Amino acid sequence: MPTSRDLLPEKPGFQRALLRWYETHRRKLPWRRNADPYRILVSEFMLQQTRVETVIPYYQRFLTLFPTLKDLARAPLEKVFKAWAGLGYYARARNLHRAAQTICRDLGGKIPGTKGELFRLPGFGPYTAGAVASLAFNQPVAALDGNVKRVLGRLFPQFRDPRRAPPKKDLEKFLEGWIPPGRASDFNQALMDLGAAVCIPSRPRCSACPVLKFCPTRGELPEKKPAGRKLRQETWAVALLERDGRYLLHRNEGQGLLAGLWQFPKVVVDENRGKNTRHEDPGKLLKNYLLKDFGLKVKVLSSLPDQEHFFTHIHARMKPYLCILTDPPNSPPPPKSARWVKPSGFSRYPISTAMRKIAALLDR
Ligand code: ADE
Repeated sequence: MPTSRDLLPEKPGFQRALLRWYETHRRKLPWRRNADPYRILVSEFMLQQTRVETVIPYYQRFLTLFPTLKDLARAPLEKVFKAWAGLGYYARARNLHRAAQTICRDLGGKIPGTKGELFRLPGFGPYTAGAVASLAFNQPVAALDGNVKRVLGRLFPQFRDPRRAPPKKDLEKFLEGWIPPGRASDFNQALMDLGAAVCIPSRPRCSACPVLKFCPTRGELPEKKPAGRKLRQETWAVALLERDGRYLLHRNEGQGLLAGLWQFPKVVVDENRGKNTRHEDPGKLLKNYLLKDFGLKVKVLSSLPDQEHFFTHIHARMKPYLCILTDPPNSPPPPKSARWVKPSGFSRYPISTAMRKIAALLDR
């Protein structure tokens, strides 16, 4: 499970950029006029499974019919259903009505302000409890809906693969580490708006993204599996071999697709061609390769988040490893086709798209 330190550029810069964008780009939605918990509660029930544009007129009519929590609690269920008619998923209406009655009967008519208390009420799952606690009470808890999940998946590619995604609880915890103190409401709504307007499912509007420079995709998403072709699955170990703030890049001298392009040293560690699959320790293979092909003795320090790339015939999962030389003074100079390059100088080299995803993991 990654920690909040894994978004490589620092957290405060990301938070500032997102909140500044939200100040000028926030959607003007009727439940955002103030942080009235009742208004937010109603909106979040309606927004479960329903789009914002569809919800707005229902929301406005509902608040005219039931202006306060007490009005809702006292109303007959049929009247609530009638106001809900057309929105679908009527269990939401029944639960909202029940929750209002429970709050009025057991909690003195005051909507509770913590996620834990809200979670115990009818109709509240982790998302709705988190959304109401953060939006109405500024509690530093996650509101992890589909849009926010997608944004997270792009900022942190290791969350994108559903087979390896951490449990939702862990994701929420992770996200909570990113909420700036005292700004939970704005931060969560900023993520929702970013997901709804910029970081959209297909063709995300990366050029309009306030946090593009923090995003490892660098505007190259979404990466969709090309349809209709059976791809060979490969796993690569890629060396981010550092020496005095510079990294080893070399020109691909092969004949293939990437011939002539520059790349970080890499070895294929696991190649699935149907029956024949190799499994080897990626760090060890990298070390052997760097010694054999570059004459360099290296030590593997740590791994960075996996990246993936689709070529025409190959789906490559890239495992980047931070490495250093074990004995820099006695290391031979790199061969002619290799250079030590500062990250700020990467743009001077024609680096393959796949390897640019690896380069993007480094601070510039
Ligand atoms: N989707 C779910 N809750 C939302 C909210 N409060 N604002 C915008 N979109 C949402």
